[in-house]
Amino acid sequence: MDFSRQNLEKYIDTVVQGKASSADFSTEACLVEGPVEPFTIVIFGATGDLTTRKLAPALYNLYLTGAIPDSLVIVGAARSRMSHTEFRDRIKTALIGTDMSMWDRFASSLYYQSVQFNSPDSFLALSKELQTLEKGLNPKGNKIFYLAIPPSFYASVSEMLGKAGLSLENQNGNGWVRIVVEKPFGRDLKTATDLNETLHRHFGEDQIFRIDHYLAKETVQNVLMLRFANAIFEPLWSRMFIDNVQIIAAESLGVENRAEYYEEAGVLRDMFQNHMMQLLALTAMEPPSRLQPDFVQDEKSKVFRSLRPFSEWDLKESLLLGQYSSGAVDGKNVPGYREEPGVNPVSITPTFAGIRIFIDNWRWHGVPFYLVSGKRLAKKMTEIIICFKKAPHSMFRGILGEMASANILTLGIYPDEKISLSFETKNPGARVCLRSVRMDFDYRQNYNGPVLDAYEKAIIDCIQGDHMLFWRQDGVELCWSFLDPVLEDCENCADQGRRLHFYPAGSWGPEAAESFKS
Ligand code: BG6
Repeated sequence: MDFSRQNLEKYIDTVVQGKASSADFSTEACLVEGPVEPFTIVIFGATGDLTTRKLAPALYNLYLTGAIPDSLVIVGAARSRMSHTEFRDRIKTALIGTDMSMWDRFASSLYYQSVQFNSPDSFLALSKELQTLEKGLNPKGNKIFYLAIPPSFYASVSEMLGKAGLSLENQNGNGWVRIVVEKPFGRDLKTATDLNETLHRHFGEDQIFRIDHYLAKETVQNVLMLRFANAIFEPLWSRMFIDNVQIIAAESLGVENRAEYYEEAGVLRDMFQNHMMQLLALTAMEPPSRLQPDFVQDEKSKVFRSLRPFSEWDLKESLLLGQYSSGAVDGKNVPGYREEPGVNPVSITPTFAGIRIFIDNWRWHGVPFYLVSGKRLAKKMTEIIICFKKAPHSMFRGILGEMASANILTLGIYPDEKISLSFETKNPGARVCLRSVRMDFDYRQNYNGPVLDAYEKAIIDCIQGDHMLFWRQDGVELCWSFLDPVLEDCENCADQGRRLHFYPAGSWGPEAAESFKS
C-alpha cells in the first residue's frame, strides 16, 4: 500500500466517497476488443418487427460508435418485393430519434433482396448478389445470416443456405460463416432436437449462435462478475445462508401484435424456457474455472441437469398460471387477453406463471427458487432477489418483541440497474428500535461512456465468434426436458381452464400469487 498523501486522497475520493474522476475509469476499453473484421450481415425477415425495433437500431448504433467497420454490407432479405431505396427509407423511419449524423454513409451499406424461403434459385441469386456487393468491401466474404423470421421457416432457410453453398466456411467466396437463430428453439424437446439436426446438416456447432438477448444485458452479465469477482458473496451463496431466491420478470405490455405466436407459445415457452432459465442458471451455477464459453456453459448445464422434476402432485403446488383480463395500465384502460386482436375469445393460454423450483445439489438443497413472469402487470420490472435467512437468534427479541428482518440482496436488471443490500440498523434516538436500510449501487455510477444495448452486444459477439452469451444445444434440450412435463400437464389436463387464474391488467398478477411463496 502506498501511504503517500496523494494516494490516500485518491483512495478516499474513489473508494470511500465514490467520487472517481472519469480518468479513473476506462470508457472505451469495454466496448470492443481488437479490430472487427469486415463482414456482411443478411437479415432474413427484414420487413419484420425484430428488424425495425432491434436489429437496425443495434447495427446503426454500432456503426455510430465505430464498433463495426465502415466497409459493411447489410442485406435485408424477405419475401416481398422492394427496392433498395424503399428498404433504406423503412430503416430510416425505424431510427427516428437517433443521432442521424452518420445516416447517409450507413444507408449506402444497406441493400434489399427479395428471397423466397423455399426456393433454391432465390438463394443462388442471393449468393451471386452477395459476391457482387462484397467486392472491395468484404474481400474475405465473412457472413452472418440472421434468422429474424418465424421459426417455421428456420429449417427451409438453413437448408437453402446449405444447398447454395452459403454455409461453407473458407470456400465458395466465403470467409467465416455464422447463423443466428432467435428463440423459440423448438416448442418442446422433440422439435428442438429436430431443429438442431436440420441446422447441423449444413452448419457446425461453432457456426450456430442461439440468441437470448437477456444474456447480453449488461446487468445480467454482471451477475457473474458480482458473484465471482468478489470474495465476500460466495461463502454466503448457498443453503447455509439463503432462504429463497425470487426471479421476477414483470411486464406492463400485453401481447401487442404477436397474438398468432403468443397463442401457441404462452408465457412458459415465451419467457421461461429461455430468459428465466438463464437468470436461474447464472444465479445458481458453480464458479467456472475460466471465463470461457464452454467452461461457463458446462456449469449452466449442471444446474439444468439438477432441476428437480415435478411429480404430478407437486406440480399443483408448484405452478400457478394466470391470464390477464381487462384493466388499466398507467391510467389507460386496456383489453383483456381474450379481447386482443387475433386471440381466441376462449383462449386458455397463460400470460402469467409462477413456478417453484428446487435444485437438487449440495449447494441448493431445500432452497426454493420462485420464478415469476407475466404480461400486463403493474409495471415493467426485472429483478433477482436473494433473500437471506434471518439472524438465528435475536438478542433484541425481549425489547422489540419481534425478529429483525432478513437481509435481502437485490440484483436489479430493469428499470433500476442496481445492486442493493438491505440490512438492519439502529434508529437514532434514546430507545432501541431497528429499521431496515439499503445500501445501493447504481450500475452506471461513475461511468459516462457508451453502453451497449443487448442486441448490439450479441451482434458484436457473433462477429467475434464468441459463444459465451448464447445458448448451447445441451442447455436448450435440458430445459425442454424439465419443462415438457409442465407444458403437457398445462395443455392436456381436463381442468386446464379451471386452473387458470385471471388477474386484472395493471395488477401484480392473480390473487393466488400472494400465497404462492408462503
Ligand atoms: C422476448 C419475449 O423474448 O422478451 C417478449 O418474446 C418479451 O414477449 C421480451 O416481452 C422481454 O424482453 P425485455 O428485454 O423487454 O425484458
